[in-house]
Amino acid sequence: MNCEPHASQRNHPNPRTNMLILLSLLLFLNPSTLLAESTALPAFPLSTSSRWIVDAEGRRVKLACGNWAAHMEAVVAEGLGKQRLEAISESVASMGFNCVRLTWPTDLLTDPSLASLTVRRSLLRFGLIEAAAGVQANNPEIMDLTLFQAFQAVVSSLARNNIMVILDNQITKPGWCCSKLDGNGFFGDKYFDPEEWLEALTKMATLFRGSTNVVGMSLRNELRGPNQTLDGWYKYMQRGAEAVHSANPEIIVILSGLDYDKDLSFLSVKQVELPFTNKLVFELHWYGFSDGQDWQNGNPNEACGNATRGFMRKGGFLLKEGWPLFLSEFGVDVMGNSLTDNRFLSCFLSVAAELDMDWAIWALQGSYYHREGQLDFDETYGVFSHDWSKARNERFVQRLVAIQKPFQGPGISNIAPYHIIFHPLSGLCIRKKSSLKLELGPCSLSDAWNYTLEHDIVEKSTGFCLQVEDTGKLAKLGTYCSNSSSKWELISDSKMHIASKMTLNRGAVCLDVSPEGLLVTNLCKCLRRDGTCSPESQWFKIISSTRDEAGESTQINLLPNGTLNSYTPFISRRKQL
Ligand SMILES: *[C@@H]1O[C@H](CO)[C@@H](O)[C@H](O)[C@H]1NC(C)=O
Ligand SMILES: *[C@@H]1O[C@H](CO)[C@@H](O)[C@H](O)[C@H]1NC(C)=O
Ligand SMILES: *[C@@H]1O[C@H](CO)[C@@H](O)[C@H](O)[C@H]1NC(C)=O
Ligand SMILES: *[C@@H]1O[C@H](CO)[C@@H](O)[C@H](O)[C@H]1NC(C)=O
Ligand SMILES: *[C@@H]1O[C@H](CO)[C@@H](O)[C@H](O)[C@H]1NC(C)=O
Repeated sequence: MNCEPHASQRNHPNPRTNMLILLSLLLFLNPSTLLAESTALPAFPLSTSSRWIVDAEGRRVKLACGNWAAHMEAVVAEGLGKQRLEAISESVASMGFNCVRLTWPTDLLTDPSLASLTVRRSLLRFGLIEAAAGVQANNPEIMDLTLFQAFQAVVSSLARNNIMVILDNQITKPGWCCSKLDGNGFFGDKYFDPEEWLEALTKMATLFRGSTNVVGMSLRNELRGPNQTLDGWYKYMQRGAEAVHSANPEIIVILSGLDYDKDLSFLSVKQVELPFTNKLVFELHWYGFSDGQDWQNGNPNEACGNATRGFMRKGGFLLKEGWPLFLSEFGVDVMGNSLTDNRFLSCFLSVAAELDMDWAIWALQGSYYHREGQLDFDETYGVFSHDWSKARNERFVQRLVAIQKPFQGPGISNIAPYHIIFHPLSGLCIRKKSSLKLELGPCSLSDAWNYTLEHDIVEKSTGFCLQVEDTGKLAKLGTYCSNSSSKWELISDSKMHIASKMTLNRGAVCLDVSPEGLLVTNLCKCLRRDGTCSPESQWFKIISSTRDEAGESTQINLLPNGTLNSYTPFISRRKQL
């Protein structure tokens, strides 16, 4: 997480419009039913196969992680003063995450003064009396563990809940990360001795050898600052990768880019050279506040198109070159109080779904014992509420559910690819409600569509195609598919408006969603230039999927009305495709 400018401190004057649309769209889904089945851990070790991370049997494993900070001054995983460790791990699993990117500072393993420090003494030496009392009340058994033992206890608790762990070397000196001049930015900076770093990586990799759930290591978070160089990057990242691999050949090695991990473009010119194969993953970070004022002031279609092109140039291209790319930090104000973040999130979700990337949200923590001088700091980007007892915003978590399971990749099913039509503002997908009505529903219960070369949008089980009648009317399925009222194209700079080829003299007509969650057609909104209006209710992404909802990839069983049930009603239909 970087501080340029500090995300959690920014507020925007008029952010609520999209949130209102989103809330009304989601009224028909009951968020309290948001429960995922805890899936078993994959068969280890993990490795890579082209752009995919796969398990020991060659089946795709998609990392759907949350970042959990354990690198701040006290070097204790956040939240243990608020809830029982086991309860936190259970909640992480129940929100559908299969993985945690757990942060640690180099000093945890190389500073002798931290080696024997207990959790109790570490909290108290910073005067964190309330936090210490909280840990004593909620997790008394960790109070007198050393800092490293407490770190291990967190990993073990996650293991009991079938959650994989990526160990992330976030910083050298414990504390909030990251700024350009904090002396932790690049090899050779004041607090960043490469030899000490290599020693710490080796120790960490060794200590978790044979672990049942530590699957990878992020070698160093957000390299940055005036001293960063490409030569230094290749030299030390390769050495770090080799050190981790020799100490623990079973884990995947994850390399972060330059400029706060926003830039891996240099890999298009020269790849790393390592003595091992099929274990290397790259990571990239993407926040709305990194794209300047574009989200707030620009037209959202143009901002999304431009930011996406930037993302592809900076690292997205690696997927096409056959390398896994782990989007290891992205995040937003989860209550929807930031216009920038709201617009960014819809764009981000569409890209993450289309590219079907591995990812880790910043952040799980709802609060910090202490951050940047403030006690009990509230994390507005936190998936958890301030007291870690529940999701800060369940509807936000609902939007993430769509991208938690893989759409594609080796071994996820035997069925032929089909299209789903994803609506990032709600996190839902288009499906039949009745023969006439189409609605938004959980993507796990999506219909199978085909957006054909002839520009038809065909529902595959019936062969019917999507048709426009008029603005303000329902979009319907019909049998007659060959005139302009059933032809569609993707328009605007975001390419997320699905516009009818039948033009009315009032203007172009786009798919949209009514407040009841039904698919309708309206005049296309703010296609270009205008930065004051928000088109996101008309944003859709057509995504290729081979998800077989009858298979193990089914994660939530929601009845069509959004309530939880244990039956899987779509087995037979999906099998026929
Ligand atoms: C950059 O390197 C120089 C020389 O090693 C060092 O004095 C300086 O503190 C470094 N800059 C930062 C921001 O750490
Ligand atoms: C496009 O994105 C780049 C960064 O990728 C940014 O510098 C530029 O200002 C953006 N332009 C517009 C018009 O949004
Ligand atoms: C769509 O239909 C065409 C034939 O009409 C077929 O070749 C193609 O594979 C189908 N694509 C999807 C994603 O269903
Ligand atoms: C397309 O065909 C349908 C069904 O025959 C008809 O109702 C509609 O008016 C036609 N639309 C156009 C633009 O020709
Ligand atoms: C959802 O549907 C199920 C089965 O049709 C029904 O039992 C349940 O009461 C419905 N729930 C709501 C909230 O409508």
